[in-house]
Amino acid sequence: MTEKILYTPLDTPPVPEYDLDGLLEWCKQKTINTQQIPGRLDSSNVRGIQDVYPWHIVYPRKNFEWKYGFDEQFPQLADWFGRAYGPSLDKIHDIIMLPIKSEFTGVGFWHSDPDRWGMRVYLENQEPGEFLRMIPTKELQQGRPNFGQGSIDPVFNVELQDRVLSAKLMNPRQAFFLNSKNAVHAVVNPKPGPLRIATIVSFTLQPGDDTLVELIRRSAEKYDDYVLRWTESGAAT
Ligand SMILES: [Fe+2]
Repeated sequence: MTEKILYTPLDTPPVPEYDLDGLLEWCKQKTINTQQIPGRLDSSNVRGIQDVYPWHIVYPRKNFEWKYGFDEQFPQLADWFGRAYGPSLDKIHDIIMLPIKSEFTGVGFWHSDPDRWGMRVYLENQEPGEFLRMIPTKELQQGRPNFGQGSIDPVFNVELQDRVLSAKLMNPRQAFFLNSKNAVHAVVNPKPGPLRIATIVSFTLQPGDDTLVELIRRSAEKYDDYVLRWTESGAAT
């Protein structure tokens, strides 16, 4: 029952060596361009949430196409995305990079994510011990909990449990699954000047293709010590 797995590291090939300084610079330059993607503006510049929003947003891939020469500048990463999770590159609709703002510290921005499969990777995270908090929903949900924007303490359209879970990475560069139906989450950053690049890999699969479900299931068995699971409020995790 993968809907009860809220978080697990994923059993993918390791993130390959790449030019980290080059990627940070690329993100910095291209953030401005990504604000022109219709319907997905850089929320760090949206009035009301810009002060609490922890990230800049960059799209290396959008609508099944690489953007801004990402695949030419970072061929090792482009290749890895197309084989790491199982489905081939032509199933990857979007890739969204979220380098954290250098000035952001603390616990920020409770929310849920809109993508279907919850495939993630930290291309770099130098605070792997505590990076993400999750609050489970009271009931198992069919869809994403929606939330009111504009506050660091948003109002969700479902009831949440009164406990907070903490996710840990195994490695500073680590793929993972994040459940956005049965929990909400917030980023944690203990120190200023974090070196962290979270990445969303958004797949579009044929109906019945359970490649990613199998990946989640297999990974949760393998990395049981790291897995966060949904249980009813008050039950032991
Ligand atoms: Fe998120």
